[in-house]
Amino acid sequence: MGADTNGRPAGSSTGVGSNVFLTGATGFLGAEIMKRVLLAHPGSRLTLLVRSSAQEAAGKRVDTLLEKTFGPDEVRRHRARIDVVEGDISRPGLGLDAKQTDAVRSSIDHVVHCAATVRFDLPLDVARRDNTEGTRNVLALAEGALSLRRLDYVGTSYVAGGREGLVMEDELDVGQLFSNSYERTKMEAETLVRAFAKGHPTSIHRPSIVVGDSKTGATTSFEGMYQTVSMFKAAYSRGIRVALPADPRTKIDIVPIDYVVDALFALIHSPKAIGRSHHLTSGPGYTCELDELVRIASRLVQVKQPPYMSLDTYYKYFRPVLRGVIWGTKRKLMLKGEHYMPYGSSKFEFDKTNTYEGLEGSGITTPHPREYFEKLLTYQKSADRRI
Ligand SMILES: NC(=O)c1ccc[n+]([C@@H]2O[C@H](COP(=O)([O-])OP(=O)(O)OC[C@H]3O[C@@H](n4cnc5c(N)ncnc54)[C@H](OP(=O)(O)O)[C@@H]3O)[C@@H](O)[C@H]2O)c1
Repeated sequence: MGADTNGRPAGSSTGVGSNVFLTGATGFLGAEIMKRVLLAHPGSRLTLLVRSSAQEAAGKRVDTLLEKTFGPDEVRRHRARIDVVEGDISRPGLGLDAKQTDAVRSSIDHVVHCAATVRFDLPLDVARRDNTEGTRNVLALAEGALSLRRLDYVGTSYVAGGREGLVMEDELDVGQLFSNSYERTKMEAETLVRAFAKGHPTSIHRPSIVVGDSKTGATTSFEGMYQTVSMFKAAYSRGIRVALPADPRTKIDIVPIDYVVDALFALIHSPKAIGRSHHLTSGPGYTCELDELVRIASRLVQVKQPPYMSLDTYYKYFRPVLRGVIWGTKRKLMLKGEHYMPYGSSKFEFDKTNTYEGLEGSGITTPHPREYFEKLLTYQKSADRRI
């Protein structure tokens, strides 16, 4: 039996491939996946599907990303192991012509599909183009790959939508309601991946709310939780006292980026992970109640701890008033913020049986937010002097 460039026997479906087709490398999580392949898997090449931006062509975007990640002296060394394919997951065939498609299909042996729109406020048909149809298009490319060993899909634990109680990793569509187009379209995408998994070695990875590094607090993305903190600080600085439309007892599942990437790569190496979904979350026993996080955040960014109101109260009494008096950018911000509100009153936890089984023997443990939450905000403060 032959072996690939990583020394794995031909036909093995565990481990990082010798040519990994990665989507989403210009994003928060995808960039970390790219970095891990480049630094920890010297026998692997990368084929990155990247769209051009208004400012930069796809190839230039990757150069800029490498420079930001590794520094200017390291760009050429890493770039030599990367092929960039300009494309868009929402377009049929990813927007590649027949020649490009053939070239990709004959060179790759591992697909990591991480690209998605993570906006919560998009109309359903728009979110569907990237998340549902985008995943369908990536799977179609993978289906035609000549020597595909495995596919890894980055989903989200929030496919759980408005469920209550303990959410199992093997469950997906149980008739739950969704808070936004993101949750729904990621559920549709995972359904497609599960069908693909019947014929090909596949693992599904579902992070919860990904935050900065557990040891340093560092992050390249200040979305979600970070935005809430800066919005509160901004309001407080202007003398506006805001109540949080949330339940202080909600168990908030945040998960540091280093844990997500460590766990994802360990699962890629685990035979137990094939054909399974995994909660890359904090999970039971490793979450804090919202009130504890709010107390820490209030102290660190020096605001008085805000009071709470229920979501019902917000929608019944506050929203109609706010809608009458807030216009322009502030109104847009308010409407955007509303898409995040259900997460402050969620009533579920993510079971991690499959994840723990897949990680057995890896030495990877789940960090507790009590150990790292302050580091996240300290890092945010160093990056944004307004908070
Ligand atoms: N961050 C979290 O807290 C979190 C939590 C759970 C799950 N996830 C999942 O993790 C994955 C990555 O999320 P992220 O936080 O890294 O998001 P992100 O920073 O917004 O990155 C999204 C990536 O997807 C690419 N992309 C989006 N639409 C595309 C299209 N039509 N064609 C090609 N590329 C496209 C983006 O490319 P451009 O740079 O060109 O826009 C970018 O590289 C997603 O699948 C998300 O559902 C994230």
